[in-house]
Amino acid sequence: MSSVDNVMDKLVSLAKRRGFVFQSSEIYGGLGSVWDYGPLGVELKKNIKERWWRAMVHAREDIEGLDAAILMHPKVWEATGHVAGFTDPLVDCKHCKNRFRADDPRLKGTPGQPDAQCPVCGTRGSLTAPRQFNLMFKTFMGPVEEQAAVIFLRPETAQGIYVNYLNVLQSSRQKIPFGIAQIGKAFRNEITPGNFTFRTREFEQMEMQFFVKPGTEGEWFEFWRAERMKWLVALGIRADKLRFHQHTPKELAHYAKEAYDIEYEFPFGWHEFEGIHNRTDFDLTRHQQFSGKKLEYLDTATNERYVPYVIETSAGADRTALVVLCDAYAEEDVEGEKRVVLRFQPSLAPLKAAVFPLVNKDGMPELARRLYDRLRRHFNVFYDDGGSIGRRYRRQDEAGTPFGITVDGQSTQDQTVTVRDRDTLQQVRVASDRLTDYLTEKLAS
Ligand code: GAP
Repeated sequence: MSSVDNVMDKLVSLAKRRGFVFQSSEIYGGLGSVWDYGPLGVELKKNIKERWWRAMVHAREDIEGLDAAILMHPKVWEATGHVAGFTDPLVDCKHCKNRFRADDPRLKGTPGQPDAQCPVCGTRGSLTAPRQFNLMFKTFMGPVEEQAAVIFLRPETAQGIYVNYLNVLQSSRQKIPFGIAQIGKAFRNEITPGNFTFRTREFEQMEMQFFVKPGTEGEWFEFWRAERMKWLVALGIRADKLRFHQHTPKELAHYAKEAYDIEYEFPFGWHEFEGIHNRTDFDLTRHQQFSGKKLEYLDTATNERYVPYVIETSAGADRTALVVLCDAYAEEDVEGEKRVVLRFQPSLAPLKAAVFPLVNKDGMPELARRLYDRLRRHFNVFYDDGGSIGRRYRRQDEAGTPFGITVDGQSTQDQTVTVRDRDTLQQVRVASDRLTDYLTEKLAS
């Protein structure tokens, strides 16, 4: 087993054991590359989304929020070019029926020719020539399953923003430059999903479209590139594991004039998890043509009319959560024993603290319960009275809980408790009536 598999295998197993991520429909054998978030995973992803929303919407007066529907008018996807162009070239093996992307590095020879060899069954000459395969999921709207009722699950959230740009502009009384942000599900029928939650068929995006005056897009592109990297570093992700990758002309999506990926060094290599794109006026112009509705902006100061340019920041919530998990994962020796710990930044940690009675007698459980009930009003806190205190600490290390609060014999005498720091392993005594303030301060730092 390679070390890459090893680290990812350990992470996948920890994610399941501790309730971060489960395979979808597992009791039926699982559904390919679709994942469910368990009690800790849903908190982690929610904390990431909340940080994003705070930075992108609440902290800025020039960005508004939106929650558009997943189902959109089918013409949207004709206008955007997704019906015609959101495709991957695909190769079939006629022998074992497996499908591959035409650029799969495992393919040997030229697909469609006798020399080509299937990487799964090894048959020669069984691979078809590449065919274009559309990645959008299709379904039917209404009771009749006919061509006229075909509708798509959105492959990106961005289009809900473009078609609502005038509604938001008029109702919020924003002026250009301004942005619209939204978080929501997107779907792509990926041919080669994999690497745990990295590439899946159902995922969540956190996207923001910033509408600017043509000619100013270059400076806004640079502004948002810098802002997004700053945000990621502020989440506690190690800066030396992050880098930009500029798209070559061949890599650019059909709508983009310039684009940078933000990549993270996962255990399986450097890969993109966020993109900053200069989408020009491509989307709005196309929607204007296909809908027949004018989508121009009137600058009342100069009386100029124009279709705005758009700078997009597009992040995957699931991929960002995977980055946070990979970055937090550590194994270390503590006094001769192996410890696995998730070093989440406290603000992202699913549980902020765990409360333990040292033993289940002498008034300790009662005091610990009272403390737990009090803390629960402010933070997501866990109560654990099972097993040795060492095992309880280790369980919380694996969950990434920053603080362990132990009620011991002294606590029942002087109303103080010990607070153990997940990272330094140091313990301090804190008066139990000061604990809420103590944790509030620590969690904010
Ligand atoms: N609106 C632009 C857009 O969708 P993208 O680069 O195709 O651009 C943006 O996707 C982000 O969405 C990616 O950086 C990634 O984090 C996430 N994403 C895309 N496809 C994904 C998939 N199949 N599984 C998980 N996340 C995905």
